[in-house]
Formats: sequence, C-alpha cells, structure tokens
Amino acid sequence: MMKLIFLGAPGAGKGTQAEIIAAELKIPTISTGNIIREALANGTDMGLKAKSFIEAGKLVPDDVVIGIIKERLAADDCSNGFILDGFPRTIPQAEALDNMGIVIDKVVDIDVPDENIVNRMSGRRVCKACGSSYHIENKKPKVEGVCDACGGELQIRKDDAPETVLDRLNVYHEQTEPLKDYYAKCGKLRSVEGTAPIKEITASILKVLED
Ligand code: AP5
Repeated sequence: MMKLIFLGAPGAGKGTQAEIIAAELKIPTISTGNIIREALANGTDMGLKAKSFIEAGKLVPDDVVIGIIKERLAADDCSNGFILDGFPRTIPQAEALDNMGIVIDKVVDIDVPDENIVNRMSGRRVCKACGSSYHIENKKPKVEGVCDACGGELQIRKDDAPETVLDRLNVYHEQTEPLKDYYAKCGKLRSVEGTAPIKEITASILKVLED
C-alpha cells in the first residue's frame, strides 16, 4: 500500500505523472484542482466559493480544500493507498493531513525551473469531462481535440494564460515550496528532475519509490 504526495510547481507534470503512476500501482489519484474545477462546472456552493481564487491563480482557502480532502480520503477506493496531486499546498494543509492520522509514505517533488513552465502551460489542453491533461507537442492526444481516456472535448484552462501562470508561480514559491523542507525533515522527500521526457521522469519516480 502506498500513500503518496506529488509536489511541484504549477505545470511541473504532477497530474501527468500521477495518472501514469496511479495506473501502474492500481491506486486512485486525488487532484484537488480537478475536484474544484468539477465543482465549478457543476455550479455547486463549493465551486462558487472557489471561482474567484482559481481563476486569479490564487490558492482556494485552506478550510475549503481540507474539507474536500477529508471527505475524499474517507471513500472506500482510498483504503489501498492513493496519490495526492496538488494537496497539500500550504503548511496548514500538511498539518491538517497529519492531524487526520494519515501517514504518508513518500513525497515526490518534480523539479522544473520557472523558465520552462510558461511554455508548457501555453501548450496544455485538458479534458472538459475527466480532467486528463495533454500537450500540443509533448503529449498529443490520438485525435486532435479529443480525450484518449473518455472521448471528452479538450480545452485550454482559463488559469493557463501567461500572466496568471506567473501569479501561480509566485504563489507556489511563497506558500507551497516550504513543504519541501517540511517533508525533508521527516525523511519523506524524494526529488526527481522534471525536464526530461515524460517516460524518463516516470522511470525516475518508480525508482525513488523503491528506496
Ligand atoms: P491544479 O489543478 O492542482 O494546478 P497546478 O498545481 O497549478 O498544477 P497543474 O495542474 O497546472 O500542473 P501539473 O503539475 O499537474 O502539470 P501537468 O501534468 O498538467 O490547481 C489549480 C488551482 O486550483 C490552483 O491554482 C488553486 O486555485 C486551486 N487548488 C488546487 N489545489 C489546491 C490546494 N491544495 N489548496 C488551495 N488551492 C488549491 O503538465 C503541464 C503540461 O506540461 C501538460 O500539457 C503536460 O502534457 C506537459 N508535460 C508534462 N510533463 C512534461 C514533460 N516531462 N515534458 C514536456 N511537457 C510535459
């Protein structure tokens, strides 16, 4: 059983790698970003609360995301492990996870320099229906504009506009990057270099999970 966190800047490839590794390990991926976007599309109360934050590239308040995670981790499919993609993103979120009694095995940090990020984001396309992520050059769908996984329509994320990406990077450095120290201190942090081709990064992650 593996309980994992995938950490990294926006666009570092957390979602892409989480999908691949989760399929390999037969555990679910829990992406707070996907859950919030789904709530937004469905017009729920939580979606409405999150809308202004997510569209501006700011973090949604801790109490909202902690509530989402508490509910999701209680589901049966998490009993054999899971990958958290995009949570925790602040020290209070990491502390809340500890206080839930969840013992994480490893935290995989995918390291990509800021200068690579804006280009990656401008080529990203995501599935409207299931949230799977593609890239117009680096990870093309089999049929242009159509999701390989579910046949849904691919679209550009609103928060992938270059100016919003720069805001998201600032938020990452200020609020999320300190989590590297938090998890290094308890010996759980494993860093992988995230600028190689997708397959090579997957191999590096599988290797650090074996340690
Ligand atoms: P979220 O959806 O989590 O966005 P993010 O962390 O900013 O990360 P991304 O999904 O943008 O990137 P990724 O690392 O998954 O990269 P991907 O694999 O797609 O969160 C969005 C928003 O929700 C936040 O801004 C916030 O408002 C809110 N939120 C979510 N969680 C929250 C929390 N815990 N607390 C508070 N607020 C929260 O890859 C990017 C692109 O690059 C793709 O096109 C991909 O195909 C391509 N690519 C991937 N790997 C490679 C490679 N090796 N080489 C070349 N291209 C690659």
